[in-house]
Amino acid sequence: MKTNGNTVLITGGSSGVGLAIAKAFLDLNNRVIICGRNPEKLAQASRTYPEIHTFLCDISKPNEVNEMFTAIKSQFGNLNILVNNAGTIKFYDFIHDEDALTNGEQEIQTNLLGTLYVTKAALPLLLNTPESAIVTISSIVGLVPSPSMLVYSSTKAALHSFSRSLRQQLQQTPVKVFEVMPPFVNTEAVKQINTSKVSPTEVAEALIKALRTNNYEIRIGPAKALYFAHRFSPAKAEGILKQLIATALKAKAKVTT
Ligand SMILES: NC(=O)c1ccc[n+]([C@@H]2O[C@H](COP(=O)([O-])OP(=O)(O)OC[C@H]3O[C@@H](n4cnc5c(N)ncnc54)[C@H](OP(=O)(O)O)[C@@H]3O)[C@@H](O)[C@H]2O)c1
Repeated sequence: MKTNGNTVLITGGSSGVGLAIAKAFLDLNNRVIICGRNPEKLAQASRTYPEIHTFLCDISKPNEVNEMFTAIKSQFGNLNILVNNAGTIKFYDFIHDEDALTNGEQEIQTNLLGTLYVTKAALPLLLNTPESAIVTISSIVGLVPSPSMLVYSSTKAALHSFSRSLRQQLQQTPVKVFEVMPPFVNTEAVKQINTSKVSPTEVAEALIKALRTNNYEIRIGPAKALYFAHRFSPAKAEGILKQLIATALKAKAKVTT
């Protein structure tokens, strides 16, 4: 699909992967809208990119999502690309951590329920344009689960399944469904992981290429190798990832103590 002249909403576009995607769309002459919960982060994004449009919106709250879409409809009239990017990653021990359930609930509320609320609210606008797309930023851990991020991995597995089914439900419509599975990306969200990471810009560039070539499911950098290892032996792929994260967390603990 074309990557210029669109109206694009990126949830969680005020930092990390979302901000890099916002910049990539701005560079290609699209109208870009971002949302997030922290007004200061949104204001900073506006200072960096004055042409960006911002909404204060917690996607885990359906009333805030619906208010944002009412405003988008009246201010812009259309929307033809939705990027479901907002997400939260927590590292914890489900057995021993007292906050495990609170952490897990927050991950499910934003990563999974929030994505459903936004997607449902966006559909009337997306269905009303000749060419449109829903992009979901999942993760390779949705396919190869990580015990250090067990509920996070579960939410991403659910988003992978949701994306595949939604793609089929929307087959006879103008809405194409894309899924991006990054490996570790160099953002604030995973600063406690000391391992090699791709840059947010690499994720944004891969997404733009996928849109242009109608490549609906993409894996980036090391995520590709893990995907193929998983096809060959799921247990082996899980073992590789478990070892990598355990080493990365230990290495970081050494650096910070
Ligand atoms: N970093 C990685 O290694 C990695 C790997 C694979 C996939 N991903 C995925 O990439 C996406 C972006 O992550 P990131 O690494 O760029 O993290 P990040 O830098 O922490 O950015 C997350 C963004 O989401 C927003 N956000 C979080 N909860 C929200 C909510 N309830 N409502 C609205 N906005 C919310 C944050 O803004 P506010 O705090 O202001 O709300 C922020 O703009 C996530 O879906 C993540 O799972 C990341």
